[in-house]
Amino acid sequence: MSMSQDRDGSRSGPGGTTRGLIGRLRLAVVGLPLIAVMVFLSACTFSGPTMTIDYKSVENKEIWGLYSLVFWLATAVFIVVQVMLFYAVFRFRRRPGQGLPKQVHGNNRLEIGWTIVPALLLVIIAVPTVRVIISQASPPPADAVRVKIIGHQFWWEVRYPDPTDPTNAEKDLVTANEIHLPVNKTAEFELTSHDVQHSFWVPLLGGKMDLYPNRTNRIKYTAEEVGKYYGQCAELCGTAHGYMKMYVFVEEQTSYDQWFAAQKGQPVAAAAGNTTDEQIKKGQALVTGGACVTCHYIEGTAARGRVGPNLTHFGGRTTFSSGWAQNNEANLKIWIRNPADIKPGVTTLANQQIPATGELYSRMPAFPNYTEEELTAIVKYLGSLK
Ligand code: CUA
Repeated sequence: MSMSQDRDGSRSGPGGTTRGLIGRLRLAVVGLPLIAVMVFLSACTFSGPTMTIDYKSVENKEIWGLYSLVFWLATAVFIVVQVMLFYAVFRFRRRPGQGLPKQVHGNNRLEIGWTIVPALLLVIIAVPTVRVIISQASPPPADAVRVKIIGHQFWWEVRYPDPTDPTNAEKDLVTANEIHLPVNKTAEFELTSHDVQHSFWVPLLGGKMDLYPNRTNRIKYTAEEVGKYYGQCAELCGTAHGYMKMYVFVEEQTSYDQWFAAQKGQPVAAAAGNTTDEQIKKGQALVTGGACVTCHYIEGTAARGRVGPNLTHFGGRTTFSSGWAQNNEANLKIWIRNPADIKPGVTTLANQQIPATGELYSRMPAFPNYTEEELTAIVKYLGSLK
């Protein structure tokens, strides 16, 4: 028999004593959650593209200030309540031989106290809350940059009104998915949608704000640091919602002005046939003489479509497919052949109408019939549009 009786009555076997087993179990019960907590905490960070607490704008800083106030007040309340709770539990626990404790009914002083103190705490929270709400909703300063954002399934149309003729949409600077802003200047976004509900969100700068058809919502960001900021659609808007990204480039005023001036004009190299590169010429003929013109617009060419992203300065963008794919020739070839290979769901409903408005969905169809040589020419032409 492998079991034997120990002095304390516990049984020992090949695996050690039962007590040893309990000890190990106890260690596991305490240790495993501790390890799990450490693993979870190791993923914590105070900076990252989607960390709203790593504020880079005046607006986010305001919200963070409010958040901190509420957080620390709530922490203080939690500690006070827990200390009182544990004090009461231990100080007034039942002891052996104790009779019935003193019976009390009500305590006016305490009851008045625990009514007044929470009321005061709420006032301390309410005053700055209302102040921040008013500040966030207040109109931007007169020199603010105005940017119109139109949500599409599944990309962002970005329009800057002409400073000299802001009400004439024909003069808008039109681009897609990549927004440029000057640093330390307020930008006011006018948000609307072409089809369904989307939500505009650039975590480090501010947001979120929903985009609806037939309604204009507004939100403002005042970026305080030069940089490239990640943004995304934050409202489930269809199959490719998860791929609806964007980037905001915050620049010094001078480089922003240069960007703006360059975007206003025709592309430098190749728009209106002013190139000698045979491949680019061929690509231009394929793009501006083919199906692309139905949906895309390229200034100075026959491409006058308004459904898809404006490609006038496409070669100057770092990404395409609403920030999801790097703008390079290899990705573009995959995209044109079958966009769903990059952004699943984007070909669904292509060339179909939105029931409510009769407009076309802004979705990219697949073009599987171009030869490799034709595709090379097309992507070289698109890359030349700077
Ligand atoms: Cu647009 Cu989600």
